[in-house]
Amino acid sequence: MTNPDAWFERNKEMVESRDPSVDKVLDAMDTLRVGIGRVLEVGCGLGQRVEQLRLRGWAASGVDRSPKSISYARERYPVNQFAIGEAASLSLYNDGIFDCVIVSHFLYTVERNQLFQVVAECDRVLAEEGVLVLIQFLPQFPLCRPDQHEDGQTWWFQDYATAWTWSPGYCEVFRRVSKLEEYERSAIIVLKKSLATAYPSVGFHGAAQFVEVVG
Ligand SMILES: C[S@@+](CC[C@H](N)C(=O)[O-])C[C@H]1O[C@@H](n2cnc3c(N)ncnc32)[C@H](O)[C@@H]1O
Repeated sequence: MTNPDAWFERNKEMVESRDPSVDKVLDAMDTLRVGIGRVLEVGCGLGQRVEQLRLRGWAASGVDRSPKSISYARERYPVNQFAIGEAASLSLYNDGIFDCVIVSHFLYTVERNQLFQVVAECDRVLAEEGVLVLIQFLPQFPLCRPDQHEDGQTWWFQDYATAWTWSPGYCEVFRRVSKLEEYERSAIIVLKKSLATAYPSVGFHGAAQFVEVVG
């Protein structure tokens, strides 16, 4: 694994210089009028978004694999729940305990053999009728390149929403795309989880009665 504090060490000052109330994720949640409840930000970094969510009435928790980030967040925002942890193993949290899970701009760094585990864990802790918020780069097609900061590591870019929306239990309800540089885009994507409406019942003969075989 790479140095878990690398992002913190590179970005602490930049994050501190930003106004935390100006935030595309909070904007998206306001636009959708996401109901207040229990929220977990996975990859919470210095905890500034978790604090903004608490100020808006959420019971807010953050988890990050960086011990330095979590110790900073705990000291700065002591009312919130912060934990050191890996996205692939959110064992601190019970099934379905959060109404909102924010996946905060790190999936492109996850080892490919861990990716399904991360997706499964975010799904496990999210309640039925909850919302999943993704912050990600958005290339036109999947591609990878060497990590700009750490030798031997790779960054994988793709639209990660599809890692959830293959399931009828997840429906995309919001996508705001921003241009970063000439060829780069990022996106805030919100998915709604609803297993109750995902598989409509069509009676005894099931979906087969709607299938017409041609040729
Ligand atoms: C781009 S930063 C976002 C930080 C913060 N949410 C923000 O918006 O300023 C991504 C964060 O994810 C954390 N991270 C990366 N991979 C992780 C993983 N596998 N599990 C948990 N946290 C991870 C990093 O330590 C970093 O703090």
